[in-house]
Amino acid sequence: MFSIILPTYNEKDSIKTTINNIKKAIKSSENYEIIVVDDNSPDKTWKIVQNLSKKDSTIKYIRRMNKRGLSSAIIDGFLQAEGEYLFVTDADGQHDETKFDEMLSKLKLNDLVIGTRYKKGGSVEGWSKYRIFVSRFAAMLSKPFLSNKITDPMSGFFGIKKTVFQKYASKLDGRGYKILLDILFQSNKFKIEEVPYHFKTRKAGQSKLSSKVIFDYLLMLLNQAYKTHKHFIPFSIVGLSGVFVNTGILYGLTEFLGIHYLYSSIIAIEISIITNFLLNNFWTWSHRKLKTTFLSRLFKFNLVSLISLTVNFTTLFLLTQYLGLWYVYSNLIGIFAALFINYFVNDRWTFKEQ
Ligand code: GDD
Ligand code: MN
Repeated sequence: MFSIILPTYNEKDSIKTTINNIKKAIKSSENYEIIVVDDNSPDKTWKIVQNLSKKDSTIKYIRRMNKRGLSSAIIDGFLQAEGEYLFVTDADGQHDETKFDEMLSKLKLNDLVIGTRYKKGGSVEGWSKYRIFVSRFAAMLSKPFLSNKITDPMSGFFGIKKTVFQKYASKLDGRGYKILLDILFQSNKFKIEEVPYHFKTRKAGQSKLSSKVIFDYLLMLLNQAYKTHKHFIPFSIVGLSGVFVNTGILYGLTEFLGIHYLYSSIIAIEISIITNFLLNNFWTWSHRKLKTTFLSRLFKFNLVSLISLTVNFTTLFLLTQYLGLWYVYSNLIGIFAALFINYFVNDRWTFKEQ
């Protein structure tokens, strides 16, 4: 038996069609159940499902009264499910229900099966190339933490064996959107297969993706970085010290030497890059045996800082322009993105162990 979980929040105009489409698409003779997990939606999505479930025993629902959140809804759904194989898909019809048969047969041979937009045969409908870039870039940030080559680690369309889920259920965070990533972080030994699909546009209702969801994602990466990369903490402390150095020099040069603040800033930026470099060289990565010269490392470190600045700037622009986020949020997200890039490029290039 397999179970399909449909998390819902205000999906009254989509839920019935999505359920019907899923039922029509499944050709497998295996028993299944569809479980809608609704967070007591104000539009009464649960009531529609309640009526459907009276006529059709494969349709079940959970109405959560005091909880909100996509990941935790999926976890609750998985916990209630009776199937050996657990699937999740969005209720708004954006995923591809015709893939369930294929995903089921693949899941039987794996721990997880993941629907991907970014493999040959997969695609995204109605997104500009910038929007796709933002999404792929966000996915890329999680790469250093994943041992499997997964093209769409933020997919909301996947299946997992119940035994595998149960093993890790109590460790899952449950906040935010990125349940799959959270599962992937639990082990690097999962057997996984990806199934390409076409991500459709929403026909009714609204997406609940917000800047908070993006922050949740970045915090999750941050948490993972601290847990799995022992150099990340000293590196962050050094980065923070750079902020103080930068501010101090900017203030000092402008106030006491009467230099124009923009020129002071250029000097302040370079000096803080150098102090950051020195601290990283003699502290963060000091134990590494390096064959490169001190000067070449300094040069590389400068270059990486320039790349980070570009990443910060580009993120600020793209998120503000194409996702409509407030520029302050976009910038904070840009800083996060730059931090990860900065860390990993320095770790794997500037201070690479010979
Ligand atoms: N129970 C519950 N509680 N369901 C929720 C909540 C919540 O707080 N927030 C969202 N949902 C449900 C929606 O009703 C919908 O069925 C599904 O979760 C996805 O929400 P959307 O708001 O439509 O997300 P999206 O289209 O922007 O992104 C989706 O697709 C991406 C690509 O696969 C999500 O599944 C992402 O995680 C995924 O990356
Ligand atoms: Mn959606």
